Amino acid sequence: MVVLRPYRESDLEALYEICLVTGDSGQDASPLHNDRKVIGELYSAPYGVLEPEHVFVAEDDEGVAGYVVGTHDTAEFEARLEREWWPRLRRHYAGVAREGLTATDRMRVAAINEPGTNPADIVASYPAHIHMNLLPRLRGQRVGSELLRLWVEQAEAAGVSGIHLGANDKNAGGVAFWTKSGFEPLQTIGRTVWFGIKL
Ligand SMILES: CC(C)(COP(=O)(O)OP(=O)(O)OC[C@H]1O[C@@H](n2cnc3c(N)ncnc32)[C@H](O)[C@@H]1OP(=O)(O)O)[C@@H](O)C(=O)NCCC(=O)NCCS
Repeated sequence: MVVLRPYRESDLEALYEICLVTGDSGQDASPLHNDRKVIGELYSAPYGVLEPEHVFVAEDDEGVAGYVVGTHDTAEFEARLEREWWPRLRRHYAGVAREGLTATDRMRVAAINEPGTNPADIVASYPAHIHMNLLPRLRGQRVGSELLRLWVEQAEAAGVSGIHLGANDKNAGGVAFWTKSGFEPLQTIGRTVWFGIKL
């Protein structure tokens, strides 16, 4: 049985692990990394730590196996990351030997040192953003749709006007899911398709 519930502090390790094993356009990114946490430092953990009220998880008999994370206010969240999240990680990775890192690890560390920002025009019209990742054992059973429904209902109640997200164009499953879920493709920049939905 799959239970959907609000995030708890004890779910943090699952946020890191799920992000890693789904982080190569939906496939397992662990062969690309020596550092098993760096991808989660970018895409999952900061939401659990800084905005736990905007995280929902899916749990089955084997444990937490999926999440939706996000923020209602992307610009404010980016500013908060600069104050409360990146400084500790920048100090940490400054002391990690380059030779111990893979090319993908180094790319993620570069993103910690110089984070990209989401397109300003999209953020202006769709201020919230989300990331969703499920382990393979939960996929195709509408768990993603139900997690999304929880997140959207909470955002609507809080008066959020729109949600955006970026999907890698190689991630056909992700692109199909967001399209089926009512998100509109807005712009493609490099390999990232930016989607948005108005609430
Ligand atoms: C993408 C993901 C969140 C979808 O969640 P899910 O629970 O498997 O999706 P659902 O069962 O709720 O499917 C909802 C709809 O999307 C469609 N869909 C979902 N995954 C799909 C896939 N891989 N290929 C084609 N369509 C897909 C379903 O067919 C369904 O359509 P329907 O409403 O006509 O039945 C999940 O598969 C996942 O976490 N994948 C790996 C990580 C990832 O890629 N995250 C997104 C990054 S942008």
